[in-house]
Amino acid sequence: MDGATMPLRLASLVLASLPLVALAQNDPVEDLLAKMSLEEKIGQLSQLSIQNTLTGPVIDQGEPTQMPVTLVGSVLGASSAQATRQLQEQVINGSRLRIPLLFAYDVVHGFRTVFPVPLALASAWDPDLAQRTARVAAIEATASGVHWTFAPMVDISRDPRWGRVVEGAGEDPFLGSALAAALVHGFKGSGAPDISSMLATAKHFVAYGAAEGGRDYNVADLSERTLREVYLPPFQAAVAAGVDAIMPAFNELAGVPMNSHTALLTGLLRKQWGFAGLLVSDFNAVWELGPQGIAATPADTARLAFNAGVDIEMASQSYRQHLPTLVRNGQVSRKNLDDAVRRVLKAKQRLGLFDDPYRYSDEARERASQLTPQHRALAREAAQKSIVLLKNNDALLPLSKQPGKVLVVGSLASDASATIGPWAGAAHPEDSVTVLQGLRNALAPGTQITYLPGASPISQHLQDITLVEKVARDSDLIIAVLGETAEQSGESHSRADLGLPGGQIALLGSLLKTGKPLVIVLMNGRPLVLDASVQQAHALLETWFLGSETGNAVADVLFGDVNPSGKLPMTFPRHVGQIPIYYAHKNTGRPPSGDGSYASAYIDVPWTPLYPFGFGLSYTSFSYSSPRLSHTRLASTQTLGVEVTVTNTGKRAGDEIVQLYLRDDVASVTRPVRRLRGFRKIYLAPGESRSVSFSLDQRDFALLDEHFSPKVEAGSFTVFVGPDSTTTNQAHFEVSDKRQLPIPGQSVPVAVLD
Ligand code: BGC
Repeated sequence: MDGATMPLRLASLVLASLPLVALAQNDPVEDLLAKMSLEEKIGQLSQLSIQNTLTGPVIDQGEPTQMPVTLVGSVLGASSAQATRQLQEQVINGSRLRIPLLFAYDVVHGFRTVFPVPLALASAWDPDLAQRTARVAAIEATASGVHWTFAPMVDISRDPRWGRVVEGAGEDPFLGSALAAALVHGFKGSGAPDISSMLATAKHFVAYGAAEGGRDYNVADLSERTLREVYLPPFQAAVAAGVDAIMPAFNELAGVPMNSHTALLTGLLRKQWGFAGLLVSDFNAVWELGPQGIAATPADTARLAFNAGVDIEMASQSYRQHLPTLVRNGQVSRKNLDDAVRRVLKAKQRLGLFDDPYRYSDEARERASQLTPQHRALAREAAQKSIVLLKNNDALLPLSKQPGKVLVVGSLASDASATIGPWAGAAHPEDSVTVLQGLRNALAPGTQITYLPGASPISQHLQDITLVEKVARDSDLIIAVLGETAEQSGESHSRADLGLPGGQIALLGSLLKTGKPLVIVLMNGRPLVLDASVQQAHALLETWFLGSETGNAVADVLFGDVNPSGKLPMTFPRHVGQIPIYYAHKNTGRPPSGDGSYASAYIDVPWTPLYPFGFGLSYTSFSYSSPRLSHTRLASTQTLGVEVTVTNTGKRAGDEIVQLYLRDDVASVTRPVRRLRGFRKIYLAPGESRSVSFSLDQRDFALLDEHFSPKVEAGSFTVFVGPDSTTTNQAHFEVSDKRQLPIPGQSVPVAVLD
């Protein structure tokens, strides 16, 4: 029995048992809920993808079914004001209760204006910048009628084989948490009723980045400690920042698929963390409980997912087909159903859609807001700040704008679709400035530039290699743009070999033979294994996928209009066999730093990374004083002040990202050799010195004891402050007493920048 058919007397009995709060105010959401049929309620928990709804029949894993859009709560994939308005009209004019649709879209790193991919943006170590890019993405997307983004992706990953590292902030929970919060704030803006405010989603909950073997969708099986210390903090930061939704991931965790994980969805998220927003499954993930082997029938998938806490089913239709029976026969509670529907309706109410269902779909605003000069300027700034200089022998960079004859080589140099990377929103590749175009824009008029693709990442075939060699020999400078296409990273694009794919290494061999000055501009979605030939280049610039202004930003850095300041958010291995490799590892009883024998190392490859977490060069140089501490001994309730003086010892102005790491020297459980606990970007003129201060408190000193109870333990700590995660610039202090931290279960300190 449902609201629409319930006899009056029974309805009043039910009403009498409703919580007072629902009766006290004349809440339109409660009024609506009371009018809804069971079918209408379940419709609100069904999300369809636009390909299906616009073409009429809905395809459920090959089985055609009919689901009129009027029975749907949200739609994925509509990305223009016209399309969103058209669908909304169908619902408003064609349904009994005229409940507006929510329009969801993967607005990940921009919409029409494309910003650097998240891994690139993380290289800027700049939460304020990240927030500004998300704000602009929201301004553009909301004008097209999009209410809800499936971003930020806050998965930590320590395995660059996993293609989706491109979508996240890298390997570290502290940096990842800071960026997660910033992106949530950016998407939401000042919040509803502002029509540029979007619902944000933290995804993919949780440990999706720990997929075994780096193979997408694979199982994750990790310790509770690693889960709590590494994978959960960015989600907690997103919740603290007011994220509206969380998306359970495709993976299972130690035998339990995330879309049926009652302990983590209902236990941790809802009860412990108090998360009151929406839980939306990933695409078809409810249906996938079948192949995962825990549901015998589609009805079981619906029962398991809904009862675990998944409010909305994306794409597959187990809810629509089976929840009615499950509710009627008592296997799914009506109260839980109403709670889930209430969360959906409240989100619609917050966005003002009950007052005006079309308020987001505005063609005039759409035309005026997309790809504006201001948005492009931000894309250029973000791209400049995301570039990481990995190598610069003999200060080859910055280049003169009159460098003589230049050969630009590599198919990526002119590949506009590579500039925008995976999840490119509503981007048009032709709006992007390619590297080649950026170089042409910047080089002095009359400079002789020859462009020859030579090789591509997707083919072993070398194109016109004799000509490439001839022109290279005759050039004064070679700029090789090498790496991956946009399709070689991202969802379901894991790689087992992380070298430069296709014919690029062969091309590089030919270029190196000429002995000419060679700059490699890397474009890629993950840390690559850069083999010996790549290391022979004079200069190496990691540019990831930088978005609409790629070419201009690359040229700004190559020619020195901008001094590079990015730092790696993820370790670069020397060899795939080292993976997982990350800076915050444990010491072991036989640390690898000794003479190598019977130590935790390899006999064939050094144990150290090629480029460590936090690494990045500048065209200037910086020196650091030793850290000065406010205390050498302090109580657990006190705050430790840490100060260093950083000096620009070179001849150019530049930004430096000052990083603070902490080690708990001896504890009741083993601790990482160091953990990032602070960072600050500072600008210094040549010769200028600045003192940079951080403060650390019990949230930083804390650990989870062997029972996962949060506490500070008395004992000695080492604090490191320097330019990357290998810095040895250190000082020591002691915490004099132990302390149990007050919030059980919330032991993992959420990253808080001091
Ligand atoms: C991805 C999600 C995405 C969803 C909707 C899935 O395949 O895993 O990250 O939000 O599709 O596009």
